Amino acid sequence: NVADWDIDAAQKGGYEHFMLKEIHEQPEVVKTTITPRISNHIPTFENEGISLDKLSSYNNIFIVACGTAMHAGMVGKYVIEKMARVSVTVDIASEFRYRDPLINEGDLVILISQSGETADTKAALELAKERGAETLAIVNVKGSSIARAADYVLYTHAGPEISVASTKAYMVQVSVMYLLAFQLAYAKGKISKEQLVEYTKLLENIPEQIEEAINLKPACQFAASKLLNADSLLYIGRGLDYALSMEGSLKLKEISYIHSESYAAGELKHGTISLIDDGMPVIAIATQKDLVEKTISNIKEVKARGAFVVLIAAPGVDVEDGVSDVTICLPEANQLLMPMVAAVPLQLIAYYTSVLKGNDVDKPRNLAKSVTVE
Ligand code: G6P
Repeated sequence: NVADWDIDAAQKGGYEHFMLKEIHEQPEVVKTTITPRISNHIPTFENEGISLDKLSSYNNIFIVACGTAMHAGMVGKYVIEKMARVSVTVDIASEFRYRDPLINEGDLVILISQSGETADTKAALELAKERGAETLAIVNVKGSSIARAADYVLYTHAGPEISVASTKAYMVQVSVMYLLAFQLAYAKGKISKEQLVEYTKLLENIPEQIEEAINLKPACQFAASKLLNADSLLYIGRGLDYALSMEGSLKLKEISYIHSESYAAGELKHGTISLIDDGMPVIAIATQKDLVEKTISNIKEVKARGAFVVLIAAPGVDVEDGVSDVTICLPEANQLLMPMVAAVPLQLIAYYTSVLKGNDVDKPRNLAKSVTVE
């Protein structure tokens, strides 16, 4: 039916799939999410009832979520611990609720959810409340169950996300994690007001760098063309790059149906490296200065065993000839914020692999956008 087709095309704003449209919306939705929470380059959650004193009063922080939202929490853990020196535990909601977690009064439990309706995340929130912890929901859908039940809510402003594989919702969740980390680091006296301003400015510039990363489409399409026939692949990285590789791997599995695993690069030699044989693709992420050298030596180890290496690297990360088969060079960005930039080529690689395989990109088999049953 021609009329249906027109409506569909209009909704996709000229893009072939919702996923691609949503990838393109990322610079804008990050702006929409962070701008109302920044005043003169200083983050504030006062409008949402969260004062600096409140934020610095918690003993431990737990982040609980499912799927992609949990991966946003992983980035949050690295950034909050690094900057604010507060212990953060990340849990999968379906594990958290059944493991009798050690949460108490004085702890903060952060629930991250695009839909605000995920059954396990909701149950984890109820459990946290029963145990006397305070709860903070980072949710995209206004008025959703999780938003209504939590003590505090920070809405992300991604707008409706149609593609089952989440992209822009992840990006805005991560942006809120940074705002929280900066705030908390300042509240805990770990950074000065000047540093707080500097970090916030970096975050304010990130939408431009995300835009530049979207321009890496042709390189990502080329990388995808090399992954099509793989049975399985690995994503490796260290530190924040490892947190990010988890999301890269999930994205690929969801829509390309190719098996992949994310692995902390330093852990490879404790078992997983035995999987590497001729032509097995390994996607390596190297953006964190202190760790790049170590990651590169892990890349050499897999290369020596026949891996086909796709390297996603920060500018200035040099590898000798022959170490990587395809190199995707990221735009310049501060390394702390690199996950928001490096996430883009990972999304695009998954997207193009799915397209090239002829899969239903926006509605992958067996998956639902929101899982409201246990
Ligand atoms: C489903 C979706 C995932 C999503 C997860 C958590 O499994 O397919 O893309 O990450 O639920 O959803 P939520 O709405 O809680 O973020």
